[in-house]
Parts: sequence; structure tokens; C-alpha cells
Amino acid sequence: MERWRTIIEPFRIKSVEPIRMTTVAERDDHLREAGFNLFNLHAADVLIDLLTDSGTGAMSAEQWAGIQRGDESYAGSPSWFRFLDAVTELFAFRHVIPTHQGRAAEKILFSVIGGPDKVIPSNTHFDTTRANIEFTGAEAVDLVIAEGRSPSVIHPFKGNMDTDALDTLIVERGAERVPVVFVTVTNNSGGGQPVSMANLRAVREVCDRYGLPLFLDACRFAENAWFIKQREDGYAERSVPDIVREMAGLADGMTMSGKKDALANIGGWLALNDDRWAEACRNMLILTEGFPTYGGLAGRDLEAMAAGLREVVQDDYLRYRVRSTAYLGEALVEAGVPVVQPIGGHAVYLDAAALLPHVPPLEYPGQALACALYREGGIRGCEIGTVMFGQHPDGTESPAPMELVRLAIPRRVYTQSHVDYVIEVIRWVAERAEQLRGMRIVEQPSALRHFTARFEPLAAAG
Ligand code: F0G
Repeated sequence: MERWRTIIEPFRIKSVEPIRMTTVAERDDHLREAGFNLFNLHAADVLIDLLTDSGTGAMSAEQWAGIQRGDESYAGSPSWFRFLDAVTELFAFRHVIPTHQGRAAEKILFSVIGGPDKVIPSNTHFDTTRANIEFTGAEAVDLVIAEGRSPSVIHPFKGNMDTDALDTLIVERGAERVPVVFVTVTNNSGGGQPVSMANLRAVREVCDRYGLPLFLDACRFAENAWFIKQREDGYAERSVPDIVREMAGLADGMTMSGKKDALANIGGWLALNDDRWAEACRNMLILTEGFPTYGGLAGRDLEAMAAGLREVVQDDYLRYRVRSTAYLGEALVEAGVPVVQPIGGHAVYLDAAALLPHVPPLEYPGQALACALYREGGIRGCEIGTVMFGQHPDGTESPAPMELVRLAIPRRVYTQSHVDYVIEVIRWVAERAEQLRGMRIVEQPSALRHFTARFEPLAAAG
């Protein structure tokens, strides 16, 4: 295995989707029409789409076979039981509640256990998790370790939670106000950084001290388990499914988006041990998603996730997945392009603040960089900075802690030559970074502006 340097894609391609080539002039027009917001583009006008790794993966022949096998019985479908087996093989929680995607699981859980006066800590809440918590009137608190907030600091488990801060929060607010502690694996908002088993164990100990349940936001659980296998003492010889079972064994429940590490295009679930919470959640599920054996899904979607869960924990897949993401990141580091380090599992995060020091945060360096990558090379990434986080409910604006552009890698979709192209484009743009100008917002909604705001490039100074 280790004899050859090149790690090949561990699959052949049977069905292809053409990419339509475009010119800079065409993309200039598309950018203007989109108000310089890449969410407004037609996806057909994008060459390499790195907007998200969520639901954008390619399914395997086994998964497509499962789609055919899908049984659409309203209740008790064999597809449901195949899905349930695949989930509980890895996550042995007593109750599994299927949902149409991750945020539906969050919505159901927090409408049952959230509410005003409640506080829900996490290493870092993903934005839909935070929004679903806050929607109930509860407070969402991020307690990632200090290393996790600095793009250039190297640490093997930058997604770890600060357990002292967790303990302090619980003491200060009172354990009765904390219905659950969350840990997001891997930590998406913090750069796709993993959480160590030791840290999960330490969080578990704090939870036990106060009698609190621990839940995983397990979207990228397989990538997290792979990092544990590679980086944590005592795990090199353990199988990935075994590591996943140990992670799950430390928790009392999970929310999951099947659009990530279940290798499906749609789907998710909520799983938990508490019978009373499960009953209340199932009642909510019936109101909002569907009967408890299909949730918001078709039987065929459950089949796709069942097959995906078996594929995502395979060493060949994970070696390729994590290595190919690092391949992109390391080439950029070598070229002197500032990125969040070490490279995470599902994405490379460009540090736009470091690359465009001449563009102040309120002129949105991340947005300027993301637009430049689209203009020059047809690459679509996603600003994660002041556009996304700088707007406050009272109408004011302040700089976000980091100005990043996320290049999220869809699973099993792009080949190494696509990635080599991305590297070439980014290097070209980075070499001319001082020519890039900031942007101003010409139109925005009162919340979640990154999806719909419209921008205008600022004129070159002097
Ligand atoms: N939790 C994490 C850590 C996520 O990354 C996401 C989605 C969700 C929950 C919600 O899941 O989309 O199925 O409702 N992240 C996507 C992204 C959207 O682009 O990072 P969902």
C-alpha cells in the first residue's frame, strides 16, 4: 500500500456529467447578474463547484442498486429496517428517528429540549444548529479550544472542546439550565478540524459530573474517526467502524446529516437513548416530517444511506478522502497561499484576511476572493467571514473573527486533474492578490444575508 506515492481515486467512473467550459467574459456577465453573490449563480455556469460537500457527492453502484430496491411502504418498509441496521451497527442508540436532513433532526430535538433560559454548549455549533437553538429562545455557546480559533496554529485535534470552559459554564449557569452538551465531529465551522477520543472522554466526564447528556453532531463522523486512527495514540490498529462505535458509546445521542458521511444526496436522522425525549421527538416528527419509519424520506433514500454508511467507513475511501483534501491544501501552502492548518477532512479554508491585508473586513475580503476565483477559473467557493457572520439583529455590523473562503470537496466527484486545475487558478489569483479590491453591499435582507445579499466591487483606489 505504502509503496507508491500517488493515492489514486479508489473508484472507476461509469456515468459522467459534462462540465460546460466558460470564458472569463461570460463569467464576468454571470457575476454581475448574480450581484457578485455566488449563491445566485446557475450551477451550470460553474466549472468546479466547491460551495459545499453536503448532498453533492457521487453515489456508488451499490447505492444506485439500493435506490432500485427501495420499498415505498408507508409503514415498516424493508428499506427502513436495512437503514436502521446500518445506523445501529455504528451508533448503538436505542431510538433512531429518520429526518429529511440534519437540520430537521436539530429542529425536532431542540423544540423538545430547548426553550428560553436554556444554554446549549458545543465545541462550535454549525449555523443551522445555532439557529435552531436560538429559535427556541435558548442560547448556543461555542467552547472550542483556543488553538481552534487561530488559522495558522498547528494542533492535531483543533476541534477539541475546552473542557475547563465547559465546566465553568455549567457551574455559572446552573446544570439545570443545560439540557445537553453537543460536540460537532469534525468541527465544520472551525475548519473541518477533528475532535480526539481523549477529548470526547473528557467532555463525557464533565457531563457525568453534572448528570448531563452528551450528543454528537456526527455529520462527518467517519472523517473524524480516520483522523483519530492516524493521529491519536492507541488507535492505529483499530478499525474505523470500531473507532466510530467507541465515539458513539461515549454519547447519549446524535444528530446527523446523511448528506455528508452517509454519502447520500438527501437524508438524516436523530438517534438517542432517552425514552421520554424519543417519544416527544417522534410526536414532533409525525407533525413535521412523517411516520417514524420513513421520516421525511422515500424508502429509496433510506437505502442510499444504508449502503453509504457501509462504504464511508472503509479505509480505502477514507485514505483517499482525507489525502485528496490535504493534497489541495498542501499544494497551496507550498505556493505560499495562507490556509487554515492543518488541513481538515472535507474542505480547504483560504485565509482571505492574510491574503488581502489591504482589504478591510467591512469591505469583505473573503467575498472579493471568492468572486475572483469564480471570475478567473469558474471555481465556486463560499465566504465564511464578515458577510456570513458580521450582521447583527440590531442592524449593526462588525468584523467576523476570521475571513475565510471555504473550498468544500464533494465526495467522489472530482479527480486529481480537477484539483490540479483548482491549485493553478488559486496560485494565479494569489500572485495578483494586491490587485483585488473590496466590495460593498448594495442590497441585503435583515438576517442570513450571505445567501441573498447583492454586492458591487469597489473602484480601484487612486
Ligand atoms: N451540522 C453540521 C456540522 C453541518 O455541516 C451541517 C450542514 C448541518 C449540521 C446541517 O445539515 O444541511 O443536512 O440540514 N452543513 C452544510 C455545509 C450545509 O455546507 O457545511 P443539513
